[in-house]
Amino acid sequence: MTMFNLKSLAYLAALGVVAAHDNGLAITPQMGWNTWNHFGCDISEDTILSAAKALISNNLTALGYNYVVMDDCWHAAARDSATGAPVADPEKFPNGVKDLSDKIHDMGLKFGIYSSAGKYTCGGRFGSLGFEEIDAKTYAEWGVDYLKYDNCFNEGLSGTPQISHDRFANMSRALNATGRPILYSMCNWGEDGPWNFAPTIANSWRISGDILDNFDRFDERCPCTDIIDCKLAGFHCAMARIIDFAAPVGQKARSGGWNDLDMLEVGNGGMTFDEYVTHFSFWSILKSPLILGNDVTNMSNETLEIITNTAIIGLNQDLGSGPANRMWKRTVKEGGDLQLWAMSLSNNRFVIALLNTSPNQQTVDVDFADAFFDQGKTYQQQAYQVSDLWQKDDSGNWGKSVGTIQGGIKNVQIATHQSKIWLAIPAPSSKRAYAEL
Ligand code: GAL
Repeated sequence: MTMFNLKSLAYLAALGVVAAHDNGLAITPQMGWNTWNHFGCDISEDTILSAAKALISNNLTALGYNYVVMDDCWHAAARDSATGAPVADPEKFPNGVKDLSDKIHDMGLKFGIYSSAGKYTCGGRFGSLGFEEIDAKTYAEWGVDYLKYDNCFNEGLSGTPQISHDRFANMSRALNATGRPILYSMCNWGEDGPWNFAPTIANSWRISGDILDNFDRFDERCPCTDIIDCKLAGFHCAMARIIDFAAPVGQKARSGGWNDLDMLEVGNGGMTFDEYVTHFSFWSILKSPLILGNDVTNMSNETLEIITNTAIIGLNQDLGSGPANRMWKRTVKEGGDLQLWAMSLSNNRFVIALLNTSPNQQTVDVDFADAFFDQGKTYQQQAYQVSDLWQKDDSGNWGKSVGTIQGGIKNVQIATHQSKIWLAIPAPSSKRAYAEL
């Protein structure tokens, strides 16, 4: 191997590329739509085809929302008794899954399916534990491009990272053995710390119990206050709680393997406009898969506005950058907190994000000493061209300049449950000054 190759290998290794699951997928977080958050078990061929058509007619596919994923409850009552192969519900899917996936492919989209690494799925349908090979083979024959793989009824095969790893690795191997590139989306709700063992077997891994379409309500069914030592992932995890969960594990995400904060609830009605903006912004900068979970055949302008913010999507899809880091979190005395997040993008660009989970409007000074803590003094002291990515410029493009700023963004008025997402690019004058040093 030449020096150049060695060097590039070291570079790739530093980016985490070499150690990631090597099916070549999810180079940036996957984007698409999934049936579950809006339709639950009430799905059919029509639900899925209508959504696929709506993704196209609303130009969402052009923005990257390409995977159409059929979640739980597509199954027939039992597997094929002769071969053991999975079978779809003949009433909901009268033309079968292969026909459905062909139609999705004909529209230029990709098709995803769901199963569980357990005896049954969470909806009580047949699971894939012990059937990994025949299931993966059948999915490949059906033209499946994506598998969401759940954790219900796992027969007690969890409790240590090794046990969980081995159970989920069986499906990873089976998928790879088909020779068809199938994005592997692990959904074990953060049990046994998948961020430590999933990167080499999967393209993404859920970090928590199921999302609740609510800003921050504490629900005993999602009992953990952090996920590192969580013993019961549960469900009904409010959105802002998942942001808290994600804060320490950002360091484990990399190209090809992402922390999955769960599917989006934008448009499902449980949060205000500002809350959904926060939801979409943070899922983007935390590099979560962006999987829509609303009824895309029936969306308000507000919902469309949020999910089509190309500047925010661009942060999620930026090549070569990892998730944002939380630089500080300050408790507010009326409840909730203020949070400062920072993210490095490619080409020496940066994101500064501020979140107010408190019940009132707050006034905040964002100090560049904090936002650029990781980059050191030069970056903390130089001037930046700053734009607000939730405002449009005069030509109607997302990202409105708020000026050239040095030292910090002072006196920011931030409403309850709102977030501010700024793009910061070193100002030309500071580049000159830096070069002159
Ligand atoms: C849960 C999973 C949800 C959904 C559901 C289906 O375990 O986290 O996203 O897939 O099962 O029953």
